[in-house]
Amino acid sequence: MTQTFDALVVNNQESHYSVKVQKLTLSDLQDGEVLIRVHYSSVNYKDCLACIPNGNIVSTFPFIPGIDLAGVVVSSEDNRYQPGDEVIATSYDIGVSHFGGYSEYARIRAEWVVPLPQGLTLKEAMIIGTAGFTAALSVQRLEDNHVSPEQGKVLVTGATGGVGSFAVSILSKLGYEVEASTGKEAEHEFLKQIGATTVVSREEVYDGKIRALGKQKWAAAVDPVGGEPLASLLSHIHYGGSVAVSGLTAGTKLPTMVFPFILRGVNLLGIDSVYCPMETRLTLWNRLATDYKPENIEALVQQEVTLAQLTDALPTLLKGQGRGRILVKLV
Ligand SMILES: NC(=O)c1ccc[n+]([C@@H]2O[C@H](COP(=O)([O-])OP(=O)(O)OC[C@H]3O[C@@H](n4cnc5c(N)ncnc54)[C@H](OP(=O)(O)O)[C@@H]3O)[C@@H](O)[C@H]2O)c1
Repeated sequence: MTQTFDALVVNNQESHYSVKVQKLTLSDLQDGEVLIRVHYSSVNYKDCLACIPNGNIVSTFPFIPGIDLAGVVVSSEDNRYQPGDEVIATSYDIGVSHFGGYSEYARIRAEWVVPLPQGLTLKEAMIIGTAGFTAALSVQRLEDNHVSPEQGKVLVTGATGGVGSFAVSILSKLGYEVEASTGKEAEHEFLKQIGATTVVSREEVYDGKIRALGKQKWAAAVDPVGGEPLASLLSHIHYGGSVAVSGLTAGTKLPTMVFPFILRGVNLLGIDSVYCPMETRLTLWNRLATDYKPENIEALVQQEVTLAQLTDALPTLLKGQGRGRILVKLV
């Protein structure tokens, strides 16, 4: 067994915030039944916040961030998992109050672990990660609410982001006409390549005015952006349509009116990946390995980085410069 290993450690001592790769031993890890040799992790918006002062994600230091990890079981005190098993661990306290995936080894509670489904590699599982899982949960919730391809265009906001790019790819694979909204003019071709039928600017979704009701443009929407753009798009959803909201990149306040709900029967569906029940989680990971798996999943990788390169890559999402997913390779 390796004596020491590398991990990205966030510390906050005497108001001095530091983020650096350190040598640790297994005894530095927190409790958990399953010890995993991490092969891949990824970068999510929450991870970027975990690595900055006042990000309001981490409250105890020193800490290892990384809300996603996939790897191979080294040892397990839970008989559901055996050495050599390939597994995924995302959500719950991982990377928030329990040491996460930016580490060559992770000790994780057995009830947070998901067996790697057939049809996915460890690398592909982390190209998906929490962002892709959230997109899948959003699509499934729309379908549970009777959205189907023949009803018309589905809008995806923040389309070049992690959640957005996966939503575009999954919806397109399922046969939907996808309208992708982006603030990045240079990425229109990328969005078409991953499955968008049409690409519009952010202003097409929100032009600075929130109307009681507007022209019915979209049968449904996947919205990781929130805030005023969400209030605006709600007034353009078809009668009986649905919107799956997962994020807050444009803000936490939702200055909407009741009219889309009481005059058009629009459904606003809240998406939470963190405490998504395990039964749903297993079903969705299996779908991500089969019918939800993007045709060209590698096209969704913006960058692959090592632990040592991670500190340079982390600010990308906070600057709004993400395009798909940033993968972290630990083997
Ligand atoms: N509920 C959950 O369980 C859950 C899970 C995962 C993520 N989230 C949340 O979902 C959000 C997106 O996560 P992500 O991983 O996709 O992040 P991301 O990769 O950084 O993508 C966010 C995208 O939003 C767009 N955007 C950024 N600032 C904006 C602004 N001011 N107004 C409008 N659009 C803006 C940009 O896309 P364009 O340039 O293409 O417009 C950006 O790429 C975050 O708030 C995250 O915390 C929630």
